[in-house]
Amino acid sequence: MADFPKLRLRRLRRTEAMRRLVRETVLDITDLVYPLFVTHGKGVKNEVASMPGVFQLSVDKLAAEAGEIAGLGIPAVILFGIPETKDELGSAGYDSKGVVQQAVKEIKKAVPELVVITDVCLCEYTSHGHCGVISEGEVDNDQTLELLSKMAISHAEAGADIVAPSDMMDGRVQAIRKGLDESGFVQVPILSYAAKYASAFYGPFREAAESAPQFGDRRSYQMDPPNIREALREIEQDIAEGADMVMVKPALAYLDVIREARNAFKLPLVAYNVSGEYSMVKAAAQRGWIDERRVILEILTSIKRAGADIIITYHAKEAARWITR
Ligand code: PBG
Repeated sequence: MADFPKLRLRRLRRTEAMRRLVRETVLDITDLVYPLFVTHGKGVKNEVASMPGVFQLSVDKLAAEAGEIAGLGIPAVILFGIPETKDELGSAGYDSKGVVQQAVKEIKKAVPELVVITDVCLCEYTSHGHCGVISEGEVDNDQTLELLSKMAISHAEAGADIVAPSDMMDGRVQAIRKGLDESGFVQVPILSYAAKYASAFYGPFREAAESAPQFGDRRSYQMDPPNIREALREIEQDIAEGADMVMVKPALAYLDVIREARNAFKLPLVAYNVSGEYSMVKAAAQRGWIDERRVILEILTSIKRAGADIIITYHAKEAARWITR
C-alpha cells in the first residue's frame, strides 16, 4: 500500500535478461531421470497406447537408447521390467537372468557412466499384480520383505548403481539394506519411494508395465492421498532404516508434500512425475489445446521449486532438448 509508487515489482520483469538474472529456480538436465520399460523378446519397440512417445523396449534395444539418453546429458535411468512369465511369488523379479538383470548389464556395458536405478517391487512379476506376497487374500508384509531383499541383491549383482523399492511394505528399507550389506554391496544406495500414494495417476504406467492388480487395489499399502503428516512419518521411518534418498510420488498433486519434506529432511529428495501426469499433457498437446513445450518446462520447474532435487519424468528426453542455459 504505502510502498507504491516507490516500490514497483514489475521493474525486475521488464526484459528476458533481467528476468534471467533474478530467476530463483533453474531446471537443469542433471536434475532428470528417465524411466525405461524393459521387456522380453528381441527387436521389440512397442509404444504404450496411453503414453505417446514411451516404449517397451527389449534388451537388445537398450544400448542405443542408453547412448541417446546419456548423449542428451541425462545422468540416470530407472528400469522397470516386463517378464515373460509371472507367478504367485514374482520369481522372475529375482532371477539372475531376468529382464531387468539383463538390462542392467547391457546398459552398464554400453554406457558405464549412465547411473542405473532399478525399481524393486513385485507387482510387475506377480500373477496377481500386487506388490507383495498374498496370504489369506491380503498382501503379507513380512513374507514380502525377504523377496524384496533378494530382488535388490540380484539387481546389485547385475551392476545396478541404486536400488529403489516402490512396494510400500513396512521395514523394507531395513531388510534391503541388511541383504545388500551381507552380500557385499555396502556401497549400493537405496532410493526409497518413501511417500508413495495410492494414486489414480498410475493408470497408464500399469498398462506400460502390465502390472495392474488382478483383484482389489493397493490402498492397504500405498498411502491415502489426503494425508501429509503420515508422509513425513513414512520418510522419517525410511531414513531411520537406512534410506540414502527419499521420494515423494506422484509429484503434481503432491507439491505441498514435496515442500514439507524438503523443509523437514536433509537427504536428496526425489519427485516422480508419474505416468498419468505425462499422459494428460500429451493428450492435451495432441489436440492442440496447450503449448506442450511451455507446459512441460513449467511443470518440471514447479516440481523443482517445490523442493525436489531430482525429478523422475517421462518428459526427460524432450525436456533435455529444450533446456537452454
Ligand atoms: C511399482 C510402481 C508403480 C509406479 C512406479 N513403480 C505402479 C504402482 O504402484 O501401481 C508408477 C509410476 C507411474 O505411474 O509413472 N509398484
